[in-house]
Amino acid sequence: MQQKIFIKTFGCQMNEYDSNRIYDAVREIGFEKTVKYEEANCYLLNTCHIRDKAKEKVYHEIGRVKKIFRLKTKPLVIIAGCVAQAEQEEMLKREPYIDLILGPQAYHKINDTILKYQNEKRKNEETEFDAITKFEYLSKIKNQTTTISSFLTIQEGCDKFCHFCVVPYTRGPEYSRPFNQIIDEARQLVNHGSKEIILLGQNVNAYNFESFRLSDLILELEKLSGIERIRYTTSHPNDMTEDLIDVYKNSKKLMPLVHLPVQSGSDKVLNLMNRKHSIKNYLTIFYKLKKINPNIEFSSDFIIAYPGEEQIDFEKTIKLIDEVKFINSFSFIFSPRPGTVAADLPLIDKKKSIERLEIVQQKLFNNQININ
Ligand code: SAM
Ligand code: SF4
Ligand code: F3S
Repeated sequence: MQQKIFIKTFGCQMNEYDSNRIYDAVREIGFEKTVKYEEANCYLLNTCHIRDKAKEKVYHEIGRVKKIFRLKTKPLVIIAGCVAQAEQEEMLKREPYIDLILGPQAYHKINDTILKYQNEKRKNEETEFDAITKFEYLSKIKNQTTTISSFLTIQEGCDKFCHFCVVPYTRGPEYSRPFNQIIDEARQLVNHGSKEIILLGQNVNAYNFESFRLSDLILELEKLSGIERIRYTTSHPNDMTEDLIDVYKNSKKLMPLVHLPVQSGSDKVLNLMNRKHSIKNYLTIFYKLKKINPNIEFSSDFIIAYPGEEQIDFEKTIKLIDEVKFINSFSFIFSPRPGTVAADLPLIDKKKSIERLEIVQQKLFNNQININ
């Protein structure tokens, strides 16, 4: 009988890319993708840990799956992604319906892990950080994505340790994929009909492989005639180097939208967050790019009501939004994450936090409408 796998994906674009690559991998051991829960022999949940209740969402989702399969054969249940990395074997103990745990840097082990489970029926977790082996393995399996716009992960992990963020703990240290491995994969995507490539990384502009930078990669990808548009996300202001800024002068295919998260408009708050950049640095990048092409627009992520954010700091965020006129941005109230430096800091009053978020979101919405 044909085995079928259903994957549900939470979180960022990197998780979406990973889910596609997991489909490519399990095809090798006879699984076919299904978009119907009830057809699946294998249910994989690709999880995100970035904000609160991540863990609870997973157990809630497992509850739903249990209901769906109440009168049917139980599927093999795999928890992958950043919650899997953070919680590891704790999840197997808490929820017996879960069979396997797979961290984001261990996807190269998925087929062996499934086959072993099918033979021995022994629960298992694989959560070591081994990005090199993972991408070597994945590069040997064709990327079968057939969408016009395709994600392509070029960099993983983070060494920056912002005080609010779980990513360095769930994705591990910064790793850049080999230059030619990425070009080969882009070629496969183009051959399957992709016209737009979105280069991904938790710090995509920190890409650095044997002195090849993101700028080199963009200029090389441009040479593939099937590609019409190139985008990249997510960037850190400190990695917005001159060579990357210069690409906006030379590139014909790089889109004029820069997603460059700033988080807050106040240097004091940036310092408390351990962001290691100032608003002056940020605006310098903004004005350099605007000088190259006034049509370049900026989008950002904002964390509102970070512990220590006073009214004056919040007003600086508003001032920055007015100056840069960000579009397409994400804004969330600070969510304390276990294991991070900011986990136990005293929170700002909930009502005030919501009021601030609403003001920011209204401003961002107005910018969006004006620019559209
Ligand atoms: N590397 C990117 C950067 O430095 O800007 C961000 C990657 S992170 C996956 C995406 C966004 O999640 C962050 O920019 C931040 O705004 C948000 N985020 C991360 N941790 C958060 C937290 N504890 N509470 C609220 N938002 C958070
Ligand atoms: Fe998280 Fe981005 Fe900071 Fe890294 S640079 S710790 S991914 S917010
Ligand atoms: Fe979430 Fe992990 Fe992405 S925590 S935002 S899925 S890197």
